[in-house]
Amino acid sequence: MISGLPMVVRDPDLPARVRIHEVGPRDGLQNEKAVVPTEIKAEFIRRLAAAGLDTVEATSFVHPKWVPQLADAEQLMPMLGDVPARLPVLVPNQRGLDRALALGAREIAVFGSATESFAKANLNRTVDESLAMFEPVVAAARVAGVAVRGYLSMCFGDPWEGAVPLDRVVGVSRRLLDMGCDELSLGDTIGVATPGHVAALLTALDEAGVPTDRLAVHFHDTYGQALANTLAALRHGVTTVDASAGGLGGCPYAKSATGNLATEDLVWMLDGLGVSTGVDLGRLTATSVWMAAHLGRPSPSRTVRALSHQEP
Ligand code: HMG
Ligand code: MG
Repeated sequence: MISGLPMVVRDPDLPARVRIHEVGPRDGLQNEKAVVPTEIKAEFIRRLAAAGLDTVEATSFVHPKWVPQLADAEQLMPMLGDVPARLPVLVPNQRGLDRALALGAREIAVFGSATESFAKANLNRTVDESLAMFEPVVAAARVAGVAVRGYLSMCFGDPWEGAVPLDRVVGVSRRLLDMGCDELSLGDTIGVATPGHVAALLTALDEAGVPTDRLAVHFHDTYGQALANTLAALRHGVTTVDASAGGLGGCPYAKSATGNLATEDLVWMLDGLGVSTGVDLGRLTATSVWMAAHLGRPSPSRTVRALSHQEP
């Protein structure tokens, strides 16, 4: 039996509603050792939507050798026709876009890097080369009426290069938005950001004329900072937050990246702050417990553990 809700004390400085961009089936499962059967992935996505998540990143159309866990994108997408949620997919290049459009994808995400080291590790390209690779993809997607999210990884720190200068992040952000991305998700790929750093980056983006309502934040929880960083972003006016059910995740091409901010931990905090998300925490937690059983390990989410009495 899963129950429990926090006491609600509304904070008038926070937005009334936050949109959660659920990344568990993509960012979560791409980094699991076990390759999850396609039917289980489809059921996972279905359950996430039924728990009230209206955006569920479903999979990636990348090279199957680079991310074998998501090599079944062609089999998965046709199973999701009746899922009542937006189902964005990752697409790095024209080949990825062709594959996604052939399966009826209505939203895609390209994924760039603020640092050269990660651009090379993740895309086999320099930063400039990867932006040049995305440009025609974004243009073609827009012509097809497909919404485009831009991810920007390594916005705070990079495992090879250390701290990332704010002006570098601002520069690549501008280029992704200027090429036509509707939304930009700022990635703390290895989870090293702290709240003051988040506020400083958002202020720098403000000063560069980037509208806050086109930004999302994407925190990994490596150092336990993801929730604090999220609160800093909400105080700055960000209203779209990426999270992964059960805290699944990481990135196969960034050493020391662990799971994303757990969606349950986020929803517990937002419920307590009186910020609406549309998510049913009990149903979501039950879904993560079910997925943890398939993965053969307990969820790393503190909220999932507390609500379901899972052993750590
Ligand atoms: P490459 O080796 O440079 O590819 O990889 P290429 O363009 O030279 O092509 C080589 C071969 O791959 C060709 O086949 C292409 O057709 C094929 P061949 O002619 O030799 O038979 N190919 C493809 N096949 C299927 N689908 C495709 C595709 N593209 C080329 N889309 C590439 C370049 C971009 C493909 C590769 O680097 C790649 O797939 N990278 C993906 C890495 C990835 O998915 N990383 C995880 C997601 S990013 C992330 O997790 C961070 C995020 O969460 C935010 C954060 O936390 O910061 C978003
Ligand atoms: Mg990520």
